[in-house]
Amino acid sequence: MDFEKEFSKMKEGNTFKYFYKGKWCESNTGKTITLRNPYNNEIVGNIQSCNKEEADEIISCAKENVACWSDTPINERAEVLRKAADIMTEYSKDLGEILMKEIGKPLNSAISEILRTADIFNMTAESGTLMGGETIMGDAFEGFTREKISLTYRVPLGVVLCIGPFNYPFNLTGSKIAPALIAGNSIVMKPPTQGAITPLHFGVILEKAGVPSGVFNIITGRGSEIGDYLVSHPLIDMVSFTGSSETGKNLAKVAGMKPLLLELGGKDAAIVLDDADMEITTKAIVSGAFSFSGQRCTAVKRVIPMPNIADELVKRVTNEVTNLSIGDPAESKTIGPLINSKQCDYVQGLINDALDKGALLKYGNKREGNIIWPTVLDNVTTDMRVAWEEPFGPVLPFIRVESVDKAIEISNASEYGLQGMIFTADIDLAFNIAQELEVGTIQINGKSARGPDHFPFLGTKSSGLGTQGIKYSIEAMSRPKVVVMNLTEKGKLIRECRVD
Ligand code: NAP
Ligand code: G3P
Repeated sequence: MDFEKEFSKMKEGNTFKYFYKGKWCESNTGKTITLRNPYNNEIVGNIQSCNKEEADEIISCAKENVACWSDTPINERAEVLRKAADIMTEYSKDLGEILMKEIGKPLNSAISEILRTADIFNMTAESGTLMGGETIMGDAFEGFTREKISLTYRVPLGVVLCIGPFNYPFNLTGSKIAPALIAGNSIVMKPPTQGAITPLHFGVILEKAGVPSGVFNIITGRGSEIGDYLVSHPLIDMVSFTGSSETGKNLAKVAGMKPLLLELGGKDAAIVLDDADMEITTKAIVSGAFSFSGQRCTAVKRVIPMPNIADELVKRVTNEVTNLSIGDPAESKTIGPLINSKQCDYVQGLINDALDKGALLKYGNKREGNIIWPTVLDNVTTDMRVAWEEPFGPVLPFIRVESVDKAIEISNASEYGLQGMIFTADIDLAFNIAQELEVGTIQINGKSARGPDHFPFLGTKSSGLGTQGIKYSIEAMSRPKVVVMNLTEKGKLIRECRVD
């Protein structure tokens, strides 16, 4: 089918509507938000700026439609997810093109984001149908007998609010939608404003796949205007959020007593030991630090090398960085625009602060429009902001230390605790260091990354709350229901041990 024809009902001209009760609607506010391509500033489209009254209507509709969906047999819910995966795969190039335009992601990565989301839908369908409960006999506990039996199974939480970030706007909303649906919940999705258009397409995709009207709904508008209202709404039963630590911490304060799944910021450190494989380490660091111009929560954001290999590693990384392609996301250049000019100013501020305090510029520190050149800073010290703050841009600081213990100390001193990396040939030592690092995940001889998406993915400290990853997300979006059987002794067979 023709993409434009298939998805035409989402918009009037270049203005996209929000999706509620199976219908595409214009906001009563009459206000829209214009979205521009961060690379060339061209208008990509307009989205509705919805208000709290519309939030009430949408959330109430989702609440009314939990039962019809949770009563749907899970094998049918799974089939809907598989159909959705087929549709997004069929249109992955069209959707990838839109994604590239609205957030400046390299086209090849943008298309991969769509396909990765299809994989998540398929794997969630499979995992969901395997989810079950357990039966526990009472006599395991002193004073109780087998006449007391606990039976558990999983039930949905109700209405799940899915809020995603700009850098993976389709994948990091889809990675919430799929587990929420397979668990039997209804959904209100609030996509990032910059990056809203691609996830808006879930409205058509899921309707075509068979999700009943009212089960999946989308509200658009600035999080700063409707975000607090959404997360604190009494009819919202669970919030699955991905975004900055600042926003996530605020959300945790206003949400009230409801389950939260928060995937927040990071400052992932690569500790490199003397016996590390330099080629593997260099490639992992450069790819991890600079793909999507560093706009990944799991980007490599600090390198902490041991003295004996620091010079060689800085040299190798710098050489590799000079080969990175820079320019138009439509040509899949690795280094493209940051999401907006304000973010560029912030990143430039970190670079300037480091250089003013004595950091050594090895490459970069150049800006054209919203493109910041990949920047490598050596001799970064702990009095510099870039040692601690999350750039969410193409900046890589080397913090030289004298010992492994110091490397662990600096790594753990961060407010963040998403992932960490250890590069060494000594796996025993790596495993021992891993136990000291205060992070959710430690990568040994690899770059920090969320995937593969069935792995548990979590942040500690300011990096998050709860665990994402297909099975874990389904668990987070459901709960056990317990039925206890209290049997009588009627008809009980009393069998004596044979002593003959
Ligand atoms: P952000 O500014 O925190 O926004 C994230 C989402 O929250 C957006 O949809 C935003 O809406 C919404 N929002 C804003 N204020 C809100 C409020 N008061 N209540 C509820 N929602 C609100 O983050 P971002 O700039 O999109 O993404 C970059 C950040 O996300 C980085 O810090 C990165 O590390 C983090 N991130 C973490 C992960 C992870 O898995 N750990 C993955 C990706 C990104 P608007 O767009 O309308 O403001
Ligand atoms: O910032 C997005 C976060 O989820 C990282 O995903 O797969 O690039 O490590 P990935």
